[in-house]
Amino acid sequence: MAVRSPVLNVMANAALKAARGLRRDFGEVEQLQVSIKGPGDFVSTADLRAERTIKTELTRARPGYALLFEEGGATQGSDPHHRWIVDPLDGTTNFLHGVPHFCISIALEREGEIVAGLVYDPTRDEMFWGEKGAGAYLNDRRLRASARRQVGEALIGTGMPFRDRARQDEYLATLAAVMPATHGVRRFGAAALDLAYVAAGRFDGFWEFGLSPWDIAAGMLLVREAGGYISDLAGGQTMMTSGDILAANDHLHLPLAAMLKEALRGATR
Ligand code: IPD
Ligand code: CA
Ligand code: CA
Repeated sequence: MAVRSPVLNVMANAALKAARGLRRDFGEVEQLQVSIKGPGDFVSTADLRAERTIKTELTRARPGYALLFEEGGATQGSDPHHRWIVDPLDGTTNFLHGVPHFCISIALEREGEIVAGLVYDPTRDEMFWGEKGAGAYLNDRRLRASARRQVGEALIGTGMPFRDRARQDEYLATLAAVMPATHGVRRFGAAALDLAYVAAGRFDGFWEFGLSPWDIAAGMLLVREAGGYISDLAGGQTMMTSGDILAANDHLHLPLAAMLKEALRGATR
């Protein structure tokens, strides 16, 4: 039986509480698809409400910690060592369109290093969580990244740039390289869940450009604790600042990194 530490219980309680609201709001959104006004404003409110709930829960339990929330931005804390990094709703476009694939992502950073991560999918009631040195879990089950060694057998997740089109050509070059070389590419639309799926061995790898710290902080910890490897697209460790990320099982990271590097060499920037 997996036992969560006190701080992970704080994270889990915050996520479960916010998820109740998101689930209810998602039901509304499904109705709003057919209305003329559409669900846009409603979704922004749902997003902000989830963020408020999580903020209240986390700061009640750990009052001095600094915050980095997607909507509310950065807030300094009296404790200079700890910071929460939170995306209250990852997969907003799915949520907005009534597609049941979205999540809450909560990470805890200590002295600049991610030490705990939790990604919760309210639709499937799947809680991915982990702590540095203690492993990663899905609900009560220990997670391991997949054992596949052949790129040709790998299922790879990705995210396409949809706001910042500046790197579209670069991205398309990587997609053109990965698509025919692997068993398949999936674009599910929630980066935190994509990373959790790598940790769970559902995806053998995942790459995306230009993500934000709240999209990846929790998922990166899960992948590492499940035995996977993470880098940016040049093989470095700038993921939290560049937002460029490649996560994969230990065997496939190197060949995938080489493939992406080669594709990017030939692409226009
Ligand atoms: C987005 C999702 C998506 C990814 C985007 C993110 P949001 O986050 O993670 O999968 O492709 O780059 O911005 O806006 O739904 O929180
Ligand atoms: Ca996000
Ligand atoms: Ca978000």
